[in-house]
Parts: sequence; structure tokens; C-alpha cells
Amino acid sequence: MGETATGAMRISPEYFVDPHSIHARLREEAAATQIVLPRGLRVWLVTRYEEARFVLADPRFSKDHAGINEVATRHWEGEGDPVMFDQSLVRHMLNSDPPNHTRLRKLVTKAFTPKRVEALRPRIQEITDELLEAAAGQGEVDLVEALAFPLPITVICELLNVPMEHRDDFRRWSNILVAGNQPELLQEAGQAMAGFLAGLVADKRANPGDDFFSALVHASEDDDRLDEVELISMAFLLLVAGHETTVNLIATGVFNLLKHPDQLEKLRADRSLLPGAIEEFLRYEGPVNQATFRYTTEDVQVGDVLIPEGHFVLASLISANRDESRFPDADTFDITRPAGGHLAFGHGVHYCLGAPLARLEGEIAVGSLLDRFDIALAAEPDTLKWRESTLMRGLYSLPVSLSDRGAH
Ligand code: HEM
Repeated sequence: MGETATGAMRISPEYFVDPHSIHARLREEAAATQIVLPRGLRVWLVTRYEEARFVLADPRFSKDHAGINEVATRHWEGEGDPVMFDQSLVRHMLNSDPPNHTRLRKLVTKAFTPKRVEALRPRIQEITDELLEAAAGQGEVDLVEALAFPLPITVICELLNVPMEHRDDFRRWSNILVAGNQPELLQEAGQAMAGFLAGLVADKRANPGDDFFSALVHASEDDDRLDEVELISMAFLLLVAGHETTVNLIATGVFNLLKHPDQLEKLRADRSLLPGAIEEFLRYEGPVNQATFRYTTEDVQVGDVLIPEGHFVLASLISANRDESRFPDADTFDITRPAGGHLAFGHGVHYCLGAPLARLEGEIAVGSLLDRFDIALAAEPDTLKWRESTLMRGLYSLPVSLSDRGAH
């Protein structure tokens, strides 16, 4: 990473190839380091486990969207306007503090409890089986396209009753907005996404289905009705969070299994290890690198660093999960380790609402893949490309060769 005029470190392309060794150095040096994100925002990056956990849960780190916009204008070293995100997409729970956060989250928690999610198991299995059937006989496939992407997007679109024909447009806009590394496309993608979701809300107003999103659109005043922008933002958050992350849980998890054949063999020999393996996937190389924006509402001491009021603070979850002081031999991929306590789903009031769904999708996808196929990497691991996003950690594609186990 290079330095900017203010002395902060600028994230450079090699960061995305191997963020872990850069994080290891930063963890050694200090609890928090000033860095400049690719578009030009100056933030404090927190890389150690204890401090990351603290930042995620302490209410002096605010997520209020209006405050975030204001702080962005003061810590901007980039070209153009720092706030390019379409403002009708931002009024959701992950951009709000209690009590507003509590109100927004309460409206949807019921749909994502472990019990409600468990009821989706047969349908998730069915979608997985269809995808694996389509992949069978092809020899070599890109596992991202064949399984890791279509499974979670189909599940979340069905939950919200979103027509599937817009899936490819939706994916393109979502990728642009989440990666944020193509500023020239941000505004257009934001507008297109907002327009699409406004149409979805209007459609559910006119033709309510039995999905829980229709219920939200039709809630009465007494049920704490959401206004139009809150509805659009809620749909945006659920659809994006519901697929941008789980795709990486499945693809990166399988990639790491293939890179560590001893671990793959262990899992094949004892399938009761699968839930623990999913936790190790999440710990060792989870889908979220730097958690979403928080800013200090007063001066806050973070370990050995005093972060002044009105600064951005990002907790790196993939770094915290490699902190030796919390996970001995943290750089070793070991599906039998007790990986509990990892921060891959965050911590505190914003702890991932979809964690039970993501775990179930991960278990069904990986379990069914191993049941059906012998699988091998079809490219050198070093040639695979990681997404150039500071938020998401994931592969663009994962070429694998599949041979039906029944054929042996
Ligand atoms: C492996 C997959 C997933 C991972 C690693 C993941 C990770 C996370 C993380 C780290 C946060 C907190 C971010 C922060 O505090 O800055 C979060 C929040 C959230 N996630 Fe997930 N997520 C996953 C899947 C899902 C799924 C399937 C859904 C389904 C709808 C979902 C919905 C949400 C929502 C709504 C929030 C905001 C919660 C709040 O603000 O109270 N996530 N997720």
C-alpha cells in the first residue's frame, strides 16, 4: 500500500490479491491505521479481534446515514462527489442507530428465525439439486455461475417474491454498488436499482402476494408502517445482503477445501464435521472484509489509538478472524478447530439477520456438491481473481472439474 499527501495508506491493487499479509502487519503495528479507500475516503481501519468486536458493538460508533454523508464530505481525498449512492436506497437498518434501527429490524426478524429458515430446507435442497443436475456431465464448470451465485439469489428472490427475469440486471447493479470501484457507473446503477425496486413496491401494492415483503407494504399505521423510501431501502438491503455474501461463503469455502486436500478428505470421511467446516470457512476467509461504515460521535480510545470525533472507523472482519491472540494458528485452515466466536457475521445490534439462512444454504450447497461429485480445481490457485472490493472478499470465478461419484 502507498501513502497519500495526508500520510494515510492508500489501498492498492495488491491488497486484494493478499489482504491477509497486509492485515498481519497492521495488527502488529497499532490497533487502528488511517487508510484511504480506492475511491478516496479516509477511514481508520481496525484490524485486531478485541478492538474490532468493540467497534462493532459500542454505540459511540454511529451508522446513521445522514451523519455518514456529512462525515464523508470532510474525509474525502477523491475526485468528484463523495456521496454518490442513490439516497432512496440508504434508509435501511444497517444505516441506522437505535431506536430507529430497532423499529426497522423488528419488522423483519420473524421471517429469519432459525425455525422459519429451517422450514425452507426442502426448497433450498430442491434448488441445489436442480443446479447440480444442470452442472453434471459438463466436465468443467465455473462453480460461482453454476451454484454459488444462483442458489442464494433464487432463495432470497423467492422469499421476497421478486420476478426472476430481472436477475441479471439486478446482479450487475448490485455488483457495481457494493464494489464501489467503478465510480462512473455508480449513479446510473443506483438510479436503475431504485427504479426497479420502486416498481416492485408498486406491484406489491397493486397485487399483494403471500410473501412477507407484501405484508410490509400493506402494514397499517399501527404496525409501524414503513414509508416509500424505507420500503425501497429494506428491499435493497435484503436482496443485496441475501446474495452478495453467501455466494462467497460457498465459492471461497470450496476453494479452500480444494487447496487443502487433507481437510477435504476429513470432511468426506466424516460428514458430521460439515457445520464446523462452515464455521471455519467463515473464520478463515469470510465473505465480508471491512464491515460497513461507522463514525465516531465523540473521541473514542480504540486500544492504543485515540480516534477523534467525526471520523470513519471500519472493522476488518477477515483480519480480526486471523488474530493469533484469539485463534491460535490463525493462518491454518482446520475444519475441526473450534471456530466459534468469529466475527464473520458481525457483532452487536447489527449482527447479521440472515446468519441462519446463510449457514443452511452453505451446508446444503457444500454437502450436496460433495455427495454428488468428485471435484478438483481446474486452474492454478494463484491465477484466480479476487473481487476488488474492500467490503466483500470473494472470487470472480472458480473453475472446477466435476465427475459424478455414481459413475465410479
Ligand atoms: C455468509 C453469508 C453472510 C455473511 C458473511 C453476512 C455478514 C453480515 C455482516 C458482517 C453484517 C453486519 C455488518 C456491519 O455491522 O457492518 C450483516 C448484516 C446484515 N445481514 Fe448478513 N451476511 C450474510 C448473509 C445474509 C443473508 C442471507 C441475509 C438475508 C437476508 C443477510 C441479511 C443481513 C441484514 C438485513 C443485515 C443488517 C442487520 C442490521 O443492521 O441489524 N445476510 N451481515
